[in-house]
Amino acid sequence: MKILLLGKNGQVGWELQRSLAPLGELIALDRHSTDYCGDLSQPEAVAETVNRLKPTVIVNAAAYTAVDKAETETELADTINAKAPEALAQAAKQTGAWLVHYSTDYVFNGSGSQAWQETDAVAPLSVYGQSKLAGEQAIQAAEGLHLIFRTSWVYAARGNNFAKTMLRLAKERDQLSVINDQIGAPTSAELLADVTAHAIRSGLKQPELSGLYHLAAAGETSWYDYAGYVLNYARHRGIELKTAENAITAIPTSAYPTPAQRPLNSRLNIEKLQSQFGLQLPDWHLGVERMLAEVLCV
Ligand SMILES: NC(=O)c1ccc[n+]([C@@H]2O[C@H](COP(=O)([O-])OP(=O)(O)OC[C@H]3O[C@@H](n4cnc5c(N)ncnc54)[C@H](OP(=O)(O)O)[C@@H]3O)[C@@H](O)[C@H]2O)c1
Repeated sequence: MKILLLGKNGQVGWELQRSLAPLGELIALDRHSTDYCGDLSQPEAVAETVNRLKPTVIVNAAAYTAVDKAETETELADTINAKAPEALAQAAKQTGAWLVHYSTDYVFNGSGSQAWQETDAVAPLSVYGQSKLAGEQAIQAAEGLHLIFRTSWVYAARGNNFAKTMLRLAKERDQLSVINDQIGAPTSAELLADVTAHAIRSGLKQPELSGLYHLAAAGETSWYDYAGYVLNYARHRGIELKTAENAITAIPTSAYPTPAQRPLNSRLNIEKLQSQFGLQLPDWHLGVERMLAEVLCV
């Protein structure tokens, strides 16, 4: 089996290079690849890559993910997050390939406190959310075999993430202020990559699994509680921090304005994915502890 991976060096793309490798011949591209175009700002050229390679499965881990910058770079965000997935979906349909794609909790408006189901009404608050929603809809409209995974609060040991930022700031400052009214589940790129590999194997045997799924770690937290958990983990392992345990102040989102509005309720209901694929998604603490052990070398 031939698998085409786009966005190989992002948080999720990097982990997919590991998890997809045992499934078959993996052709992994990024925007700088030369033999085949992997630049999603050129939708026609990436579609041509599909036509030339004729993979069994395309996994698109590339995306425009600069949420605040998207408010002003609207056109580029739309090209990468909507036009390119549309072109990929049409090429996949023509060649009979599966298209695996990632989307986001930002397609919702964040109201209420129930975990969002796949069938709930979408209403993105930001340009990024709109562009990701347009990408989902284009893939669905192409009517080819696809898996769209909406996920939330993605992190990896590699690169920057919220936990690493909190650790750095806690070494520099006596006091931290962290938002406590956005609720979600930190989800590791490792988990996304592993579940993707399982889901591809199931999908190849059961094409009726084609569809949209919510994929996040189990459980929920706020950024404030997440920060507290990370700093306690570090403290208990002998890492010296300037910020004392009681020196994190909980603040509302309104006290930390950003160009793009974020949803308050980012809870994703993961029951559909678990039941359709026979999987059990672990609690978010598990992946965060693995990441912390790796970045803190403890
Ligand atoms: N991060 C989150 O919290 C989060 C939450 C919900 C959903 N998601 C979704 O999950 C998926 C994976 O996200 P991630 O966290 O792995 O993001 P990431 O670490 O920002 O990776 C995105 C990748 O896309 C690449 N890319 C950007 N523009 C490109 C272009 N024109 N052509 C080709 N590649 C391009 C980037 O390459 P460069 O490094 O060269 O820029 C980067 O490697 C995305 O679909 C994202 O929307 C993420």
